[in-house]
Amino acid sequence: MKKEYIKPYIKKQTAGIMNKFGVSYNKGHREDILGIPIGNFTDKFGSPVFVLSEKLIRERYRKIYSHFSSKYPKAKMSWSYKTNYLDAVCSIMHQEGETAEVVSDFEYQKARRLGVPGNKIIYNGPYKPIESLKVAFQEGAMVNLDNFDELIKAEDAAKSINKKVPVGIRVNMDTGVYPQWSRFGFNIENNSAFNAVKRIQHSENLYLEGIHCHIGTFMLDPNAYREAVKKVVALMRKIEIMFKINIKYLDFGGGFPSMNKLKGTYLPPEVSVPPVEEFIDAVADTLLEELKPDEYPDVYLETGRSIIDEAGWLITSVDAVKRLPDGTKSYIIDAGVNLLYTSTWYNYKVEIDRELHGAYENSVIYGPLCMNIDVVVESAFLPPLPIGTRLILSPMGAYNVTQWMQFIRYRPAVAMIMEDGSLEEIRRPETLDDVVGPERIPEKLKKFEL
Ligand SMILES: Cc1ncc(COP(=O)(O)O)c(C=O)c1O
Repeated sequence: MKKEYIKPYIKKQTAGIMNKFGVSYNKGHREDILGIPIGNFTDKFGSPVFVLSEKLIRERYRKIYSHFSSKYPKAKMSWSYKTNYLDAVCSIMHQEGETAEVVSDFEYQKARRLGVPGNKIIYNGPYKPIESLKVAFQEGAMVNLDNFDELIKAEDAAKSINKKVPVGIRVNMDTGVYPQWSRFGFNIENNSAFNAVKRIQHSENLYLEGIHCHIGTFMLDPNAYREAVKKVVALMRKIEIMFKINIKYLDFGGGFPSMNKLKGTYLPPEVSVPPVEEFIDAVADTLLEELKPDEYPDVYLETGRSIIDEAGWLITSVDAVKRLPDGTKSYIIDAGVNLLYTSTWYNYKVEIDRELHGAYENSVIYGPLCMNIDVVVESAFLPPLPIGTRLILSPMGAYNVTQWMQFIRYRPAVAMIMEDGSLEEIRRPETLDDVVGPERIPEKLKKFEL
């Protein structure tokens, strides 16, 4: 076959393209996702489109749960709704046996609507309206309190329904990782956690059942979990002795990293992110060291991004190519920060839908918004991309389809590759009616002439 002619060119060299292993993170192309050609997705669902894999979600969940449950006898997992609360995704998690972990009344209602019983919901978060606390208490949810004002609110809620209800407390502590996540929950070191327990145990309407923490997110050091387990078990023991009660559950939250590339990290995730087993070992081994065999409480993990991030992609298309005045190559694509809030902290992997020839250049990828902040990828090393080229951005499974916003454009479809290889639309693209549905025009504003 005759080789394609490539016009000779002089290329300005830019430092910093290669990392020390001589590879560029962004270089590469892919013609399919799990065997399905990229064009099939855009033909069927349009562009852009989010794609999730049922198989990869289940596999990853099973890997984490089986490792955890093989090490700790009362291992439980609860799906962090905010990571991805599409009904189809939550249904997979619930089929696998995960309960629901919610952080707002909206998420609580969404879990209930999907059929999760109240007593299989963990209700976390710093803001729980009193009406939703009443419902949660009536339905037997595990409510973890965040602060003293919420504690008083919880007492009022329980009193108003004439019940004495179990609660947990969220705690924070120094785990050796800085900046410390101290804004959620009661601090252990300054005794506020213990004081909260005292207050609960003296209450006529509340009693303590559990201790919860979530020490941070995208944690890169498993040792932080060792510290957390030690401190939480020590607190549990102090409470049990002092108040002669048994703590029913401990909850170590989420926070295990995915294989996304955090901005500011030099090494690729394959090098900088420890395997998830190391985090589970840190939790489970420390629990076995610290606990006596006759006092094993239920232990929950609320792992989010580590389960689902790699099971998701975004397919987007190049709409225009532009050279900036300083010579930088730039592309405008049809998905921006409206859909990709996570671009604030990640350098996604960028793959092209086919092999393209030509001089690779450091390029900026802009979204379609008429906003200066709409930068999806600050620097991708790419060959010249013809208009219409599809880019596959990943990992995309976590936090995008919950943190996206309807700003000047409709939110696109989300497709799922089912275990049998078929494709399902699990969220259709939005329409004008979806967006204007809640609006109302006062009578006097209904007419105008231009
Ligand atoms: C209380 C709680 N649990 C679980 C998670 C899931 O965290 P991740 O996705 O880092 O595993 C979060 C996320 O911030 C959280 O706030």
